[in-house]
Amino acid sequence: MNQKYRLKTWVLTFSLLLILIDGKTQDKQQGTQLNRAKENFDFNWQFHKGNIAMKRILKVGGQGGITDVNVEILADKDTIIDYTNDNSYKVFYPADWKEVNIPHDWVVEGTFVHDNNLGNQPAANGYLPTGMGFYRKEFEIAETDKGRKISIEFDGIFRNSTVWVNGHYLGNHKSGYTPSNYDLTDVLRYGNEGKNAILVKVDASEYEGWWYEGGGIYRHVWLVKTDRLHVARFGTFVTTPTISDAEAIVSIKTTLKNEYKTSKNITLVSKITDKKGIVLDTKTTSQSIEPFDETEITQTGSIQKPMLWLPETPNLYKVLTEVSENGNIIDTYETTFGVRKVEVNKNGVFLNGKLYPIEGTCNHQDFAGIGVALPDKINWYKLKLLKEMGSNGYRCSHHPPTPELLDMCDSMGFMVVDENRFLSSSDEGLKDLKTMLYRDRNHPSIFMWCLENEEWIQGTVMGSRILETLAQTTRKIDPTRPVTAAMNHARNDGGYAEVMDVVGYNYGDKQLAYVKDKEKYPARVIFCTEGTSFVSTRGEYETNWGKGYTSNSIIVKPDWGPYPGEDWADIVKYPYLGGLYVWTGFDYRGEPTPFWWPCVSSHFGFMDICGFPKDGYFAYKAAWKNEPLVHIFPHWNWPGKEGDSIKVHCYTNCEEVELFLNGKSVGKQKAIPYKKLIWGLVYKPGKLEAKGYKGGKLITKDVVETTSAPSQVALNSDVSTLKANGCDVAVIRVAIKDDKGRVVPIANNLVKFSIEGPGRIIGTGNGNPTSYEPDKASQRMAFNGYCLVLVQSEKQAGEIRLKASSDNLKGTEVVISAK
Ligand code: GAL
Repeated sequence: MNQKYRLKTWVLTFSLLLILIDGKTQDKQQGTQLNRAKENFDFNWQFHKGNIAMKRILKVGGQGGITDVNVEILADKDTIIDYTNDNSYKVFYPADWKEVNIPHDWVVEGTFVHDNNLGNQPAANGYLPTGMGFYRKEFEIAETDKGRKISIEFDGIFRNSTVWVNGHYLGNHKSGYTPSNYDLTDVLRYGNEGKNAILVKVDASEYEGWWYEGGGIYRHVWLVKTDRLHVARFGTFVTTPTISDAEAIVSIKTTLKNEYKTSKNITLVSKITDKKGIVLDTKTTSQSIEPFDETEITQTGSIQKPMLWLPETPNLYKVLTEVSENGNIIDTYETTFGVRKVEVNKNGVFLNGKLYPIEGTCNHQDFAGIGVALPDKINWYKLKLLKEMGSNGYRCSHHPPTPELLDMCDSMGFMVVDENRFLSSSDEGLKDLKTMLYRDRNHPSIFMWCLENEEWIQGTVMGSRILETLAQTTRKIDPTRPVTAAMNHARNDGGYAEVMDVVGYNYGDKQLAYVKDKEKYPARVIFCTEGTSFVSTRGEYETNWGKGYTSNSIIVKPDWGPYPGEDWADIVKYPYLGGLYVWTGFDYRGEPTPFWWPCVSSHFGFMDICGFPKDGYFAYKAAWKNEPLVHIFPHWNWPGKEGDSIKVHCYTNCEEVELFLNGKSVGKQKAIPYKKLIWGLVYKPGKLEAKGYKGGKLITKDVVETTSAPSQVALNSDVSTLKANGCDVAVIRVAIKDDKGRVVPIANNLVKFSIEGPGRIIGTGNGNPTSYEPDKASQRMAFNGYCLVLVQSEKQAGEIRLKASSDNLKGTEVVISAK
């Protein structure tokens, strides 16, 4: 064993010990005596990019090679490596592998290739090659864990993953969007029995969608340890069948599994608690469970004067489950739920009895710098930005999201449409659907299940048959929520619409299809599952086919959708439409409509891939928020265009807006709700000011000024402290400013970063859909004034110092303390 490896092993063992100690303390704090533990398993994996020939051995447990720990470690390069054949060389060459932590996406680390065959359709995957990868981790399991049930839960692997533990093949899971779980109990080595190895093969060479999907173990991994008698995986279902001001009835269904070889007499205690942990009701049931059997127990409790859940006040409750035998608690489990009544009917969406139009965005999962491997913080950050935009709804297009995102939607307040990936009633299709339903059905934020999106066989009789199977399966598992499908064609054909509770309209605004259908089918329950699809590149005001940029201030209505905000007028006029999920909150890699190469990411977002708002963002903010808003564009830096005519555009929710150039009025205009205002003027550098009025009173204004040349770099971190836990992230916005501190809207300077202290740069971005710069780098060009750098904490406390410099500009630094 060489020195380096010995050190690595030591560090690994030490970190494992820390995790175990940590796990124990937590368990003790909860007073549950080491029964259930959900241990994070994200750290210290090794990753190999590219395929390794794997032969499946015919006798179980004999796989050997890298699937087990009995591999010899070599540092010399001239050694033949046979990773799979136990009878020949058992050599693991560390230099072939790199250390990674989960979440991880190797595709985003790649180099862009102009190859239209990448992805399911040209440009779909953003011109990044996918391929295969292997993840391997060695770990120890304490002797004290012997006798417990131990399983591994992968929240999401993109895709087609195969798992071996200690030479045993455990299974394969195709979907890149549903979680997978393997029971490791029998194949683990405990205490002195030796170390364990897990190997995960990930084959991302096939696609599931027409957007960037990444590749790798890109969501969290957990080791779940329980007693042999325990609450089953996703084993509770909490609903509130009756709600009044005085009381909410809480129905609690708990599935218990006995994996002992003897029958067990158990007591199930379910405590309903409020957000402070105060117990509001306790239900107790005693029952016996046969060996290797499971049972579902139903209990009914209540909450007096319930605090209702709604996006504005997302009140949450919990059911704390305790399973005990002979007075000893052997399992505990927590289920978060909310008390709310959602009805989607022919008059619209009603939340707690009141019409509640959904102000929503559809979203894919990726983000600048990191692809689909989002630390929790970034999911939280994206939702926070959407909230600031005024949004109260999130559609998980077009697949189930990571479970942490749903927890955040519960606690931050979003009305969620959770979505199944495929219209498929095959075993695999139904399994994925059921997994989504069992995993997600307790989330108060989810109010509707979407069973498919824009499948070609919508409106056919065969499509209707498949949809019927999916709908019935869903209603059986969750009778409390309606099912929809997001339709963009054949909405009135083949009996398809009749299968759903709510007919999902994608782009129903086209030729006012939703209104015409409503006239024809007055009883139809309609909801706007998707709309808008306005394309714009942040900070660009001319469409440039060479560069792949689209203008924010186009004058002619785009043929694929309305101007930002205009579609909201329909929702206000026809409340039965229920609300709208605009396509999309954020830009994402791939699908760069209306371009292919040279563009690598989409233009649909109302924020770019870094979360910097585009102009259209303000159209929805004006519509969705009560606070007065005026937003004018374009910027006012047009050297060489002095004397040319130019149009100034404005999104507002004021009654009137007056525009001034260098203090002189250019005209006051009456605003038509949700419509853009436009002034024509002659360009002169200086100060453009728009004043917004209501009832004749000035209530808000917006100013755009011609800046001078770039002179400094500015950093703005969203936090000043990070948790020293190896996963927290600071989102640092970088701006190029002039000598007066104004952001230069046309600046594209290259910014170089350096970092000191216990932190690392995990990615950079700039929102330029035609940038081929690597995201994993310590430099980034600004794009129209801005770029972004993400800094992640290590597991040590200390001061993280991020410095930014740029040629001929004044540099700067930001200090973040990791605690
Ligand atoms: C929709 C589709 C989305 C996206 C969008 C672009 O039809 O559901 O996934 O492709 O179009 O406009």
